[in-house]
Amino acid sequence: MIFTVAIDGPAAAGKGTISRAVADAFGFAHLDTGALYRAVGAMGGDPVLAARNLVPEDLVRDDLRTLGAGQAASRVAVIPEVRAALLDFQRRFARRAGGAVLDGRDIGTVICPEAEVKLFVTASAQVRAHRRWLELGGDAAQVLAEVRERDDRDMNRADAPLKPATDAVMLDTSDLAVAAAIDRAVAVVRARLDLALRG
Ligand code: CDP
Ligand code: CDP
Repeated sequence: MIFTVAIDGPAAAGKGTISRAVADAFGFAHLDTGALYRAVGAMGGDPVLAARNLVPEDLVRDDLRTLGAGQAASRVAVIPEVRAALLDFQRRFARRAGGAVLDGRDIGTVICPEAEVKLFVTASAQVRAHRRWLELGGDAAQVLAEVRERDDRDMNRADAPLKPATDAVMLDTSDLAVAAAIDRAVAVVRARLDLALRG
């Protein structure tokens, strides 16, 4: 069965948490597409070459989750040739047999516009910055400033900007506990999957 769940949204909205839970619930494969851009940003040198030569080991470096790695990712993510180099791998992953969940910024709009489910997960910038601060610590005002800066860069780039697909289901997690956000996402996927299985 081909079944793609596209989960997009801004930094620290809860995309990864929800994606992993949805993948677990339905036995789908999961791809964190942000890790691709984080790895390219961390590599140094020519980002286009880095994107073309990316290998799976590059995605498990332990310094990819820092604020700096997020900023570096969003800087290389504005380069059309970088995005183009990462496109086929993501498309193939999305349409692999057995179901796939991909989270990122442009999954429902560019990578897989035909996705069976599209979720746009969001929350206020303050809530998202607070979550990131709980994970990483540091200066809370700086974390908020960096989250806003990255959102701006992601929303305003010319190529594949962050925005909800017109047919995305919106999920605002500002006032939702993790378990409640997961329940809502799983319910949306289950309803769509039931339809697909009934043919
Ligand atoms: O992948 P993304 O950057 O969108 O967010 P994440 O890494 O899944 O989540 C960021 C943090 O927010 C994690 O520590 C989650 O436990 C927390 N969180 C959440 O994901 N959803 C909520 N409704 C509340 C908190
Ligand atoms: O976890 P968080 O939401 O903070 O970031 P991420 O998903 O790891 O993505 C890091 C950066 O990569 C984003 O700010 C985007 O600039 C870029 N990105 C992208 O352009 N397209 C994607 N599909 C995924 C990430």
